[in-house]
Amino acid sequence: MKSEDYSQGDAFQAEKRTIFSTETLPLCAEGQLARPGDFVSVTVGGWSVFAVCDKEGAVRVLRNACRHQNMQVVGVPSGNCETFRCRFHGWTYDLQGRFLAAPPPVAPKDPQATDLHLAALAVTVVCGLVFFSLGDPPALPELDGAPAAYGGTLATDIACNWKVCVEHLLAEHSPTADFTWTWPLLTVRRAAAMTIVEQVVPHTFLRTRLFTHVFGAAADEHRPAAATIKQACEHLQADRVSGAAAADRMLVADFHRRLAEAYARDRATT
Ligand code: FES
Repeated sequence: MKSEDYSQGDAFQAEKRTIFSTETLPLCAEGQLARPGDFVSVTVGGWSVFAVCDKEGAVRVLRNACRHQNMQVVGVPSGNCETFRCRFHGWTYDLQGRFLAAPPPVAPKDPQATDLHLAALAVTVVCGLVFFSLGDPPALPELDGAPAAYGGTLATDIACNWKVCVEHLLAEHSPTADFTWTWPLLTVRRAAAMTIVEQVVPHTFLRTRLFTHVFGAAADEHRPAAATIKQACEHLQADRVSGAAAADRMLVADFHRRLAEAYARDRATT
């Protein structure tokens, strides 16, 4: 990796076109969507999406782009609601993303047209985690076994490029029964009856959100560990920008190899 891959938007755009527009990506824990109307909104590699539990209890993933003028419908990271009302001009959608109504001055000519609904994305739930894909229906992520009872999710905002965060999570580990990495954004660590899932959310090229999903224990117990990850990643970001490379350990090397393949694909098609 070159230092600019960690600090400039060009690499992020290449990643948006290749990795984030085609891969199966984690969005949140199923436990964050326990009740009808619960939603979680994220921007993953420049793509704004949200997951919602509909009235029948099914998990849906929708593009967070209003059909009126393409603005973000959901403007907060999470919450509970009965309908989604776009904050810009008031178009309203139900929990399945279907268009319901709009104020007369901005109402569509044909309110029955199907292209007024929010775009629904392919979704799958595996081991208590919600995955989506912008492309074909998501390939099932390889995750072993059902985790223990969901204990909560911590959200930590980190001033670093997402790749720094993945490298940090992988640096001290090799793949074992107790530690797995699911390309590109997810690590799972098991310790006795507890499972800790770290989900990297590449918000912008210099802003990353880390979801720490805890199973088998209370999430709050992991706040100090999440704060330590934040501090370490923000230091490492400065190192990468100054040209210091990540240690070439086994999983990090594999991560870099897959990134290089994605950049090569992007160069071949743009
Ligand atoms: S952009 Fe959503 S109502 Fe206008």
